[in-house]
Amino acid sequence: MLKKEVRQGMKFNIQWFDQLPSTNAYLRGLADENRALPSGTVIAAREQTAGRGRQNRQWRSAPNRNLCFSLFLRTDAELINIPALTMAAALAVDDLLHDQGISSEPKWPNDVLVGRRKICGILSGHVALDGGARGIIIGIGLNINMTAEEAAAIDRPATSILIETGRTADVSQTLEKLFQPLEKRIAQWESGGFEAIREEWTLKAGPVGKPLAVHDGEIGKSGTLAGFGLHGELLLQTANGMETIWSGDVS
Ligand code: BTN
Repeated sequence: MLKKEVRQGMKFNIQWFDQLPSTNAYLRGLADENRALPSGTVIAAREQTAGRGRQNRQWRSAPNRNLCFSLFLRTDAELINIPALTMAAALAVDDLLHDQGISSEPKWPNDVLVGRRKICGILSGHVALDGGARGIIIGIGLNINMTAEEAAAIDRPATSILIETGRTADVSQTLEKLFQPLEKRIAQWESGGFEAIREEWTLKAGPVGKPLAVHDGEIGKSGTLAGFGLHGELLLQTANGMETIWSGDVS
């Protein structure tokens, strides 16, 4: 149990902006200024001019095409439990896509793919709040109306709801639809941490035994997936034994 009291239904309070450099950076600024920033604050932008992904990569999204938003959550969970929250958010996006008939799957640590193409990336950060509490910023980029031409211009395989279904979707309505699975997955995480999602995550992001290569900066390791540890860390069976991987890109 990560929280002493169980949240009684989350209230999402959305602020939409036509343009922001980055919803994550803006939300971090708000949390720094206001230590009482409520959980459920959502900053969404129709265009990001300096969106960032993991490893400080650019997150590209043409204006009004895709969903770019950040969610603020207050928690007293230990830092070691935070990666599993991002994984829970990836499961929420996966739930939403399945509801729309798309066969997506989460990819460790925090992507959602369709086939081998990325449809969603998540980048989380945290800020210290008063009384030992923490504010978590969960930044989600979900490709909605990205065209095949736009996807082809990205240096890694990418896809969108439009490419997968042939249908355009309303960006703000898609955000509203995501709140229900997000609330459910966050509640799971709050009640049991990674343990509460481990089985489902392993099934969807696995299977155990599949060959993997993991890169973290200059370091590369290869082996087979042995599963996920107590906090969502990847367990890699290598020729030299079991390795515990806390961060990196998997291929
Ligand atoms: C990744 O796959 O590397 C993570 C991408 C995260 C992108 C989202 S878009 C909304 C939020 N604002 C940012 O600047 N980044 C995240």
